[in-house]
Amino acid sequence: MQTFRTVEVLRAQVAAWRRAGERVGFVPTMGNLHAGHYGLIELARQRADRVIASVFVNPTQFGPNEDFARYPRTPEQDAAGLTAAGTAALFLPEVEAMYPFGLAGSVRVEVPGLSDVLCGACRPGHFAGVATVVLRLLNMAQPDVAVFGRKDLQQLQVIRHLVRDLALPVEIVAGPTRREPSGLAMSSRNQYLQGEERIRAVELSRALKAMLHAVGRGESVELAEAHGLARLREAGMEPDYAVLRRESALASPLFGATALDDLVALGAARLGRTRLIDNIAAAEAQPDGS
Ligand code: PAF
Repeated sequence: MQTFRTVEVLRAQVAAWRRAGERVGFVPTMGNLHAGHYGLIELARQRADRVIASVFVNPTQFGPNEDFARYPRTPEQDAAGLTAAGTAALFLPEVEAMYPFGLAGSVRVEVPGLSDVLCGACRPGHFAGVATVVLRLLNMAQPDVAVFGRKDLQQLQVIRHLVRDLALPVEIVAGPTRREPSGLAMSSRNQYLQGEERIRAVELSRALKAMLHAVGRGESVELAEAHGLARLREAGMEPDYAVLRRESALASPLFGATALDDLVALGAARLGRTRLIDNIAAAEAQPDGS
């Protein structure tokens, strides 16, 4: 695996691959890679001849009191894992290469509407930071296809909007959420979980499934959401939200009884020092509630 730290050398290699008729895939990450990330690399390898991964902990998507400083950084482990996963190139830009005019002087992009609800309401500016860095990364790597995880469903939709609105010449592919055997969605932030928090964290995916099952039985969305929030609080979490939405209209609240088609349950909650997020589509939820 080759490692590139500057845009110039990355672009020269991508251009050479293209001249050779090869299709280029891209998986942007913030590092501390786990099986969820390697699933995205695998998906990119199925759709491209060469896969580039980037590792960049993007300061502009963290709020002032968030975990930018302590976000887990494991460069050697990531490089070894990416090599074993068949990644052709690792892009490791410095902050100065990503934001040459400094953070204050940088051009920012905003995706309206979707950026201000759910995680966007709890983390002001977060999705502007994501959209800004993803636009830069796509422009730097110039891939044919880029893969993002469904675990961050709202992020995925913000990126799809960005790409379509700015007519970026890249196909966006969604990778499924990988879970621990317990049902806990894999995340780099799971490392912050202390002791029995790891067991209690499983309640997030269980609460989301229970919300979908309740609506499937004819319960109103409001009641299902209220039970979901109560369940998270009983597990010792401080929920930011637990909602049911149509996947095609994530920003629009639902009311009353509703069909399961296109329904997705989304939740975010704090457990100790860890902020957990997850989402489960109706099609993924087992009828027995597991
Ligand atoms: O999902 C992530 O790891 C990040 O938000 C991304 C897409 C790499 C942008 O920094």
